[in-house]
Amino acid sequence: MSGSLSVIGLGPGNPQTLTPEAAAALDSADALYGYGPYLDRVPSRAGQTRHASDNREEGARAAAALRHAAEGARVAMVSGGDPGVFAMAAAVCEQIESGDAAWRQLDVAVVPGVTAMLAVAARVGAPLGHDFCAISLSDNLKPWELIERRLAAAAGAGFVIALYNPISRARPWQLGKAFELLRQHLPASTPVIFGRAIGRPDEKVTVSPLDAVDPSAADMATLIIVGSALTRVIERPGLAPLVYTPRSADGAGT
Ligand SMILES: C[S@@+](CC[C@H](N)C(=O)[O-])C[C@H]1O[C@@H](n2cnc3c(N)ncnc32)[C@H](O)[C@@H]1O
Repeated sequence: MSGSLSVIGLGPGNPQTLTPEAAAALDSADALYGYGPYLDRVPSRAGQTRHASDNREEGARAAAALRHAAEGARVAMVSGGDPGVFAMAAAVCEQIESGDAAWRQLDVAVVPGVTAMLAVAARVGAPLGHDFCAISLSDNLKPWELIERRLAAAAGAGFVIALYNPISRARPWQLGKAFELLRQHLPASTPVIFGRAIGRPDEKVTVSPLDAVDPSAADMATLIIVGSALTRVIERPGLAPLVYTPRSADGAGT
């Protein structure tokens, strides 16, 4: 039997957002690979082996899964959210491009999941209703100067910006610096959404104007959406506000 590797998105955290396609792919695998806390989300099945690794070991994890698949196993690699968004599908492709030539012959499938920016956006309304982009604030794999250039270009061009990986113990100042820079390009009243641990029991969502955001309220489980000059907040007495970006723009001031 020839081996295969499926790279599977688990969604943001709640089992209800796992797609039926992802559930079927998980069930049919002989072996599961992934970051430990993500693997813990997958119910165990008799006869299926589990190979947990640390979150800094993406390249080694991808290579191990590819080696296992090349031996003939049906291997599944799990990823939080969508596997193609700042996640394992690219790590697998990097290994296939640079690794054993036999890995290019494997049956590889990427099974999509609900990515964090969509899960956060859905909690507050429709902040991604007009043009948007996603930027990882992590400067582990790219220089900080490049991140600053991209933030300025995106805000200056009127994109709503989803910020992944906003802060960590090793990267404590970058988010504050990013807000400083964004304030130079966007109105003080621009809505900023912090969505933390969406789909998990400790989920939290807040909306504040750009001039009042507190970077220390974010952690590694937070996804931030910074509105554009078009993004609005609809106040609703007794209910959470709705945040949305209208579908049309006239080009002036955006
Ligand atoms: C390495 S990236 C992985 C993204 C993931 N592949 C996805 O599609 O959502 C990790 C970042 O995603 C965001 N994130 C992942 N799950 C989240 C959740 N349940 N709630 C809020 N943000 C989340 C956070 O910004 C976190 O720092």
